[in-house]
Amino acid sequence: MSTFDPPITVALDYASLDDAKRTLDVIGDKLRIFKVGLQLFTAAGPAAVREVTSRGFEVFLDLKAHDIPNTVAGAVSSAAGVGARLMTIHGAGGRASIAAALDATVDGRPEILVVSVLTSLDQGDLTEFGVGRTICDQVDAIAEIAAKEGAPGLVLAASEVARVRANHPELFLLVPGMRPAWASKGDQKRTGTPKQALQDGADLIVLGRAVTQADDPAGAVDRVLEEING
Ligand code: C5P
Repeated sequence: MSTFDPPITVALDYASLDDAKRTLDVIGDKLRIFKVGLQLFTAAGPAAVREVTSRGFEVFLDLKAHDIPNTVAGAVSSAAGVGARLMTIHGAGGRASIAAALDATVDGRPEILVVSVLTSLDQGDLTEFGVGRTICDQVDAIAEIAAKEGAPGLVLAASEVARVRANHPELFLLVPGMRPAWASKGDQKRTGTPKQALQDGADLIVLGRAVTQADDPAGAVDRVLEEING
């Protein structure tokens, strides 16, 4: 599985490619990989991925595919075609969808990350869905399935990293819901600081609004880099 230095990706969560380009212009020299997610991909499509790769950066395509195996496999093969390095699928799509996604990769690309439990969900949400397990047990169950199927990575909240890292040294752990001390939580419920997540064993952390909504996005990235290196 790939490693990234620094171990940070910024989510280009914008309504237009022009907005994303402006952010790439100001923070591009600080990072190696950028996230293209549902908002930008829906607005700008594969051109958004190409914009990032044409600047020499890697793309984390965070479409969180949650569909039948055949459709997930199709999305993975299209993602390979546009040059995505990492891509997410939902673990809740089941074992067969994970297997189909892995089969559809081309020379191991994109590297598949399995979403365990969204960082915007808490125990109350799981109970409402009828999931009787604790969040920890649900994350562990999906980590187990992902690992058994041979998926290289897992997406999880900061609070679960230390435990999952201990149980699965082989998995690449991607952690969103990052909130430096100075950032607001927004709709995220299971948040953590970048420094703690990395100390606990995260391989890559996702920064969204803490950077994209900052008055000074470059300064916000610098502050996080200082925080994790300090
Ligand atoms: O703005 P914020 O830092 O909350 O953004 C987090 C980013 O990570 C968003 O782009 C969101 O789609 C993504 N993400 C998440 N929770 C997951 C997986 C991905 O928040 N479980």
